[in-house]
Order: sequence, then C-alpha cells, then structure tokens
Amino acid sequence: MTGLFISLEGGEGSGKSTQAKRLVDYLGSAFPAREIIRTREPGGTKQAEAIRDMLVTGSADKFLPETEALLMVAARAEHIAKVIQPALLRDAIVICDRFVDSTYVYQGLAHQIDIASLEALHEFACAGLTPDITFLLDVSVEQGLERAKIRSDSSADSESRFEEKGSAFHAKVREGFLSLATRFSDRFVVVDASGTPDETDKHVRNAIKDYLQITAPAGSVPAHAE
Ligand code: TMP
Repeated sequence: MTGLFISLEGGEGSGKSTQAKRLVDYLGSAFPAREIIRTREPGGTKQAEAIRDMLVTGSADKFLPETEALLMVAARAEHIAKVIQPALLRDAIVICDRFVDSTYVYQGLAHQIDIASLEALHEFACAGLTPDITFLLDVSVEQGLERAKIRSDSSADSESRFEEKGSAFHAKVREGFLSLATRFSDRFVVVDASGTPDETDKHVRNAIKDYLQITAPAGSVPAHAE
C-alpha cells in the first residue's frame, strides 16, 4: 500500500484532536499537492459513527470489555475498508485520531483482554493494518482528566463514558501506552503533551519534519487557530 498513515494516541485530555488539526495544516503547507485526510476512531464513516455513539455514551459499565472490543473492531473494519485503505491507495496522507493501539491499551492492557486475541481480531477484520508513525501524546492522568472534564462541562457533548471509568483505569491506560511505545519504538514517537497546544505542536512538528525529511524549519509554517 502507498500513502502515509499517521495515528495520534493518548489518554483522555491529551490534546490529540487539536494536534491532528494542526498536523493537517502543517503537512498541507509542506506538501500542497498531496491529499490529506483527517479522521478519527471509533468513527470515520456513517456506520462507524453510529457504533461510536453506542460506545462513548451512557454508563461506564454498560458493556462487557469483550463487547467493547468487538464494537471497536467492527467500527475499524468499516473505517479501513471505506475510508483509510482507499485513501492510502490514492497516495493520500491519512491522519487518524486513535487507531488499533487504543484497543490494545483500553480493552487489552486496562480491561485485561489478552493482547493475542485482540491481535487475532485485528488480523481478521482489519488485515493487520498498522500506522507508519504513531504520536503518543503523554500527559499525567490528573491533568488529562481535568482537561477532559473542563471540555465536557463546557460543551453539550455527552461522550464521557470512558472518562467515567475512573483514575485507576486511566493510570493503566497511561502505563499501557508507554509500554506499547517501548515495544513498538520503531513507529512510536512519545511527545510531552503537558504544556500548551503550541508547545505540543512544536514537538509534533519537529518529529514529523525529521521523519519525512521536510527541509523548511518546523516553525516556518504558521500555526492555525483551533
Ligand atoms: P476520543 O474521545 O479520543 O475520541 O475516543 C473515545 C473513547 O474511546 C476514548 O475514551 C478511548 C476509547 N477507545 C477505546 O477504548 N478503544 C479503541 O479502540 C478506541 C479507538 C477508542
């Protein structure tokens, strides 16, 4: 497959969505002729967004971890077949807010479904598709949950089901992501996301600039407002 597949991962309130938007702007300036797609998981197609709605709303314990895993993978199968794979075949850059590493961490390491079963599911439903580069936006559990709470209190969004799983769960999520980043150090870049969006943006730009060997200085493409 051609194209470039970038994923952003991290716990609640790590700022992935903001950084995904900024990355689109930066890469769009660096490669004006290239198609760039920003998408998210769970979601990214009409059917996958309907599955997302079930997953992210309602009480924290409404699904078994196994049900959660199957729904995440079902949404991903739709998303890959209908959006990601066709885009990569057109040589686009795909920037995805969460991907399979979230399943390994949330359903696997935090909810204790064995990773081998999740890998088998990913192979079965998603042909084992793996990002070329994964940014892990790392922030403490306290700071992340605080940011997520401010966001959900100040908006009408009811997508707080995962936030409500509690800080012990989210501590496992953070540890889980850091352990995956060590295991797959060839594609993971860990970014300190505790600072302002501009500070995080600078780390992400420097890393992608090195990875893609972009020659313009990382700061030379203006940052866009969120
Ligand atoms: P978001 O708030 O980052 O858009 O993601 C929604 C929630 O879904 C987030 O709390 C993490 C969770 N999630 C999983 O548990 N497993 C997955 O595979 C994915 C993609 C998301």
